Amino acid sequence: MSPDFQTHLSHTVSAVDAELDRLLTTKINVGEIQRPANLIAAMRYGVLNGGKRLRPFLIIEVASLFGASLTETLQCGCALECLHSYSLIHDDLPAMDNDDLRRGKPTVHKAFDEAIAVLAGDALLTVAFDILSSPECHPSADVRCELVSLLSRAAGQGGMIGGQVQDIEAETSTPNADEIRRLQSMKTGALIRFACEAGAILGNAPDKHRAQMVEFGKTIGLAFQLSDDLLDVTSSSAKMGKRVGKDAEQGKGTLVRLYGVEKTRALLNNSLAHAEALLEPFGKKANILRQTAKFVVERSN
Ligand code: IPE
Ligand code: IPE
Ligand code: MG
Ligand code: MG
Ligand code: MG
Repeated sequence: MSPDFQTHLSHTVSAVDAELDRLLTTKINVGEIQRPANLIAAMRYGVLNGGKRLRPFLIIEVASLFGASLTETLQCGCALECLHSYSLIHDDLPAMDNDDLRRGKPTVHKAFDEAIAVLAGDALLTVAFDILSSPECHPSADVRCELVSLLSRAAGQGGMIGGQVQDIEAETSTPNADEIRRLQSMKTGALIRFACEAGAILGNAPDKHRAQMVEFGKTIGLAFQLSDDLLDVTSSSAKMGKRVGKDAEQGKGTLVRLYGVEKTRALLNNSLAHAEALLEPFGKKANILRQTAKFVVERSN
């Protein structure tokens, strides 16, 4: 990856981690009564643990393409990272993928217990909307309301959660390629698409550019899950910080299973070409996003 991309990404990781550290404490907000220490410890364990922070990075970089600064986008990035981390905590539960390793450490239900993992996930989902609806996120209530509405839909029944349901159903059925693509664009693509659209909103992008960012998000969102499935076959647990080889074991509906490694790589390269074409009108200003699309396709963790 280019040094520029690495610098931008590590800058985002530091800023997001510092802000999440500030937001997730036992100190109560107006309207709250008490935050149990064990719950906060589990939430922090599930969030402040070395995630790539790709989703906040996309919000920040898309918004910066349209002139918005880090301080104008960081809260939205943290909200999305809380929601994403919740999805991972629940995804790892025994009732779902039953994983014991995440981001290089025991999963939340292993380090704490199942009840606390369920509740830490619930609390992270809830706090995401608290952060997003707070005036610190954006001065305009209309903008905040639009973000809340879009994230609800990306994360909920017709988005991430709906996709997770289809993912489980696919273990005992034989979905075709279109069905697999749809489930992946829901369980993983929807939050990544939200990141790109939210960036355009926070950057006050004109409608045409916002639509291009939505399309960019859809493209790299699907590619991100394709590469996750590929890495489950080709990478190692040490590199990924989570167990590999588990999709075949659990009979997950993946395109790698349907098409094999080589064809999946070819599909990923097509996605990269499409993502790059979408960035064409933005010229050099979109270099970091170009590198991000490349990272999504060629990543090793
Ligand atoms: C993992 O997401 C789950 C998928 C959607 C494939 P990431 O690979 O972004 O995980 P972290 O946040 O870096 O741990
Ligand atoms: C996870 O997909 C998608 C969500 C968490 C919504 P996977 O089940 O493939 O993710 P990993 O491989 O456990 O990270
Ligand atoms: Mg899963
Ligand atoms: Mg999983
Ligand atoms: Mg996976």
